[in-house]
Amino acid sequence: MKNRDVVKLTDRYVAQTYARYPIALVRGKGARVWDADGKEYLDFLAGIAVNSLGHCHPAIVRAIQQQARKLLHVSNLYHILPQSELARELCRHSFADRVFFCNSGAEATEAAIKLARRYGAEHLGGKYEILSAHNSFHGRTLATLTATGQEKVRAGYDPLPVGFRQVPFNDLGAVEEAIDEQKTVAILIEPIQGEGGINVPDDGYLRGLRELCDRRGLLLIFDEVQTGMGRTGKLFGYEHFGVTPDIMTLAKALGGGLPLGAMLAREEVAKSFTAGSHASTFGGNPLACSVGLAVMKTLLQGQVLKRCAKMEKVFVQGLQRLRDRFSFVKSIRGKGLILGLELEMEGAKIVDACMQEGLLINCTAYKVLRFVPPLTIGQKEIEHGLAILDKVLARQ
Ligand SMILES: Cc1ncc(COP(=O)(O)O)c(C=O)c1O
Repeated sequence: MKNRDVVKLTDRYVAQTYARYPIALVRGKGARVWDADGKEYLDFLAGIAVNSLGHCHPAIVRAIQQQARKLLHVSNLYHILPQSELARELCRHSFADRVFFCNSGAEATEAAIKLARRYGAEHLGGKYEILSAHNSFHGRTLATLTATGQEKVRAGYDPLPVGFRQVPFNDLGAVEEAIDEQKTVAILIEPIQGEGGINVPDDGYLRGLRELCDRRGLLLIFDEVQTGMGRTGKLFGYEHFGVTPDIMTLAKALGGGLPLGAMLAREEVAKSFTAGSHASTFGGNPLACSVGLAVMKTLLQGQVLKRCAKMEKVFVQGLQRLRDRFSFVKSIRGKGLILGLELEMEGAKIVDACMQEGLLINCTAYKVLRFVPPLTIGQKEIEHGLAILDKVLARQ
């Protein structure tokens, strides 16, 4: 089947929730993918920050093959060794004491919201409201899209659940003012906003939120679905800011390409989830967790995090050259290998043209080109991709 045939099939049978590019990706290796017509692309998108070890990393392929031979799935009515081991590794390397596993970022953040509400019911006289940020993104379930600070995500879904409000990102005063003594139970924040345009807060913002939560008796929830698992050059994004949350959500890179989400919490908070209070049939399934373990081990034992920090320098230097060359480039944002190039014009045309030239990127917040390549990407590949981008920008 060629691209054209796959496009036809999708258009005929698949729900039309995505504006897709007219190619079908059928194969990948490292930072490269191929479409059904055999064309090669350099992948600066990595399934939107999912394939952090690149496509078909041997450790991931091995984990899938070995676990598939043993046991694919059993119910959470029983103990599951790879799940317990992955939970142990996540706790060992983070602030957390316990992990709830699920299948996606939205589900992980939904679990965080539910846990905060149960904690509020148990310890805080029934407080339930979650404050989040303008331009945030937390998922597409009813609760998480209501927490999301973007109107376009909510359009058409009224009535929305109660108990959510947004305040400007990176504005401590706005959060403090918005806290309702009777209602507010938690603040939900991405340490770096991904979908909102790669927005890095000022030094002190997250620390300020931590102090505010401690002073006012609120929970602090970090949504690290996009920033977690090494994306910023540290295992978790919060490590850059010298603070820890009470609850954190992970997904995307955690499963190395398999659907795997997790909600992590401190013991005192985690205790509010008791037997029967939350569940997921597939959450923490042996196959997904075996792969999650392989991802963790590769990130921690190998040079991946160090390499990510090194490649950040190469990438940012390249982006600086583009900024110097093109007056319509406004700013460079991000940390590690979650980077954005803000333009003065819409980015969609640039994304299309890059794809034609063999480079996959995307655009967030209309004008910000987003780069989230595999953390294993090499210097030459970065330079090659940026040369394509240079060529495309020069035609504008
Ligand atoms: C910060 C953040 N939270 C939650 C989500 C939702 O994750 P999923 O699409 O796996 O439900 C995303 C997805 O882009 C995200 O970037």
